Amino acid sequence: MTPIAIHDTSRKELSPPPKAPLKYDYNVIVDEVPGKPDVCPTVDEPFSQRKEDGSYTVLNQPLGMRRKLRVVCVGAGASGINMAYKIQSHMKDVEFVTYDKNSDVGGTWFENRYPGVACDTNSHGYAFTYHLKADWTAIFSPGAEIEEYMRDVVKTYGLSKYIKLNHQVLGATWDAEKAKWHVKVRKGDDPNSEFVDTCDIFINASGLLNHWKMPDIPGLSKFRGKLIHTAAWPEDLDLKGKKVALIGIGSSAIQVLPQIQPLVESCSIYIRSPTWIAPSREGELLSSEQIKRYQDYPEEHLEYCRDLESLANKRFGYITRGSEDQKKLYEAWSNHMQKGLESRPEYYDKLHPTFGVGCRRPTPGPGFLEALTQPNVEAVFSGVDYIDETGLTTNQRDRREFDVIICATGFDVSFKPRFPVIGIDSINLQEQWSKPENTKAYLSMFTNNFPNYITVLGPGSPSAQGSIIVSIERISDYIIKFLNKFQHETIKTFEINKRCLDELNEHMQEQLKLTVWTDNCSSWFKNGNSQGPVIALHPGGRLHFFALLMDPRWEDFNYTYWNKNRYAYWGNGYTLREVE
Ligand SMILES: Cc1cc2nc3c(=O)[nH]c(=O)nc-3n(C[C@H](O)[C@H](O)[C@H](O)COP(=O)(O)OP(=O)(O)OC[C@H]3O[C@@H](n4cnc5c(N)ncnc54)[C@H](O)[C@@H]3O)c2cc1C
Ligand SMILES: NC(=O)c1ccc[n+]([C@@H]2O[C@H](COP(=O)([O-])OP(=O)(O)OC[C@H]3O[C@@H](n4cnc5c(N)ncnc54)[C@H](OP(=O)(O)O)[C@@H]3O)[C@@H](O)[C@H]2O)c1
Repeated sequence: MTPIAIHDTSRKELSPPPKAPLKYDYNVIVDEVPGKPDVCPTVDEPFSQRKEDGSYTVLNQPLGMRRKLRVVCVGAGASGINMAYKIQSHMKDVEFVTYDKNSDVGGTWFENRYPGVACDTNSHGYAFTYHLKADWTAIFSPGAEIEEYMRDVVKTYGLSKYIKLNHQVLGATWDAEKAKWHVKVRKGDDPNSEFVDTCDIFINASGLLNHWKMPDIPGLSKFRGKLIHTAAWPEDLDLKGKKVALIGIGSSAIQVLPQIQPLVESCSIYIRSPTWIAPSREGELLSSEQIKRYQDYPEEHLEYCRDLESLANKRFGYITRGSEDQKKLYEAWSNHMQKGLESRPEYYDKLHPTFGVGCRRPTPGPGFLEALTQPNVEAVFSGVDYIDETGLTTNQRDRREFDVIICATGFDVSFKPRFPVIGIDSINLQEQWSKPENTKAYLSMFTNNFPNYITVLGPGSPSAQGSIIVSIERISDYIIKFLNKFQHETIKTFEINKRCLDELNEHMQEQLKLTVWTDNCSSWFKNGNSQGPVIALHPGGRLHFFALLMDPRWEDFNYTYWNKNRYAYWGNGYTLREVE
């Protein structure tokens, strides 16, 4: 047999594959209309290749042609920014815009400006893999530094062209006939500036901890002093010499108390449930030598970031109820709390939980136990019965007067979108997800009745272990795979199969029972309840979740196609690569 020459000159004589004629170029991106930034061009619909008599013709185009897509997103926090970056760097022929109600990017870090706000996971792990930061000033950097980091990502990769600030999304409606989402947006506060943006895919990255909530306490609005929430901290708030009530003992309250304690005349902290206070190095500054070393030796810095990741990925061990890791942590943290509250043993009895470590999101609290035991601080282990013009009453009789009430009462984590999202048969997602037991999402992203709709960090995400930034990035990589498939195979609609979603949820709820997350504690994982389903979390470790994302089960979705034959995108036997 004659061996085939590697450089076979006879090949030159072959006629070149036909070039895809221009008429197939239905995917050309329509440029933004200059001077009309809010008027969004619509995408031409691909044609069908079936003739009028019903016979089938192969499309004279190569495999690999892309449909032009328009993707609209909500949010310019870490999730929206990262989505813009990933689409810009990994996709072609996609128009992308993300709307944010705020005047700047950063989401959580733009909004939360209370004294002491900082990362509770090591900052070196709280960075995108494509934009590591060697010069974090502290192990757990302050909020302002993280906000600056988010701005830097936007600037470095030129992402601001995708972001429309001061634009609030008011609602979205699915148009089944056209297979488009119509997204209603308001620019600024002016109701006359509302417009509708139409897109193929609608991504909701509006934040799982963005909808802050005031406590539901009778008489709250009667209070005549200053009433504030930690997530909406007024810049000019002066607490010097004030009598302050602090309601709640989640991460926000735990970060606030040590900061305000030295300023105020007195602070009463209202604690209605026990919690774990973790030993922590939060706030520890990094030396200039250490920062320079990370800058000068990027490999070493990368190695450090990898180590942090490995550590975070091992955390699921202690979440398993009855595990050795859980027992060790329970003992270590109990000792830490007992020691910190030596001078107030009665506080320890009330604050020390019986539920597992991690049932609520662990709260590092440097300086918290010290602040709690200062003479000007008093812990009131009770809920609040009612509030009047000047004070708070507990146990129907204990009334105290205050100048300021700080509500560190957390967020609405029901996952109900904050605007109507109207899907198939006019079903509103706000209603579909109105009960915890019905709040189901497939891999935290997809739910039935809402085709071409994706939530970032929806129900069942790995948001309880380590830095959420890493999860956001892995989730967006999966979304990119999905968009690519959608674009190349000229998919018209995708929708998660309801049976798959139900089976998955059945499995998740059973699997969660093996973890301390289902212990009897109130937490935002259960939207503030102590009983009922854990809706916020994936039932396994982060690696478990990431492994599931690596190899998508496309068969779990129902699809419809633009072309009447789903294989039409195979085209004429050539691939785009060889045609080009
Ligand atoms: C105080 C605080 C500290 C935290 N610390 C950590 C930490 O240390 N480590 C960690 O891993 N996680 C932490 N988290 C979780 C945190 O939420 C995530 O780390 C991350 O910032 C989430 O990013 P996101 O983009 O998904 O959401 P967000 O940052 O909340 O951004 C959502 C964006 O959507 C916008 N938006 C919402 N609704 C609309 C609308 N209708 N129209 C237009 N725009 C809208 C908002 O304005 C916001 O900018 C913390 C959360 C809080 C509240
Ligand atoms: N980087 C950080 O360190 C950091 C800082 C802040 C927030 N976060 C993130 O955001 C999450 C939420 O933290 P958060 O502290 O804002 O909220 P949270 O953990 O949900 O805590 C809310 C607190 O308010 C109390 N509360 C709510 N309603 C009340 C009422 N009507 N009367 C009395 N008390 C009431 C709750 O008590 P019950 O438990 O009894 O309901 C709880 O102690 C954190 O878990 C974390 O993921 C992180």
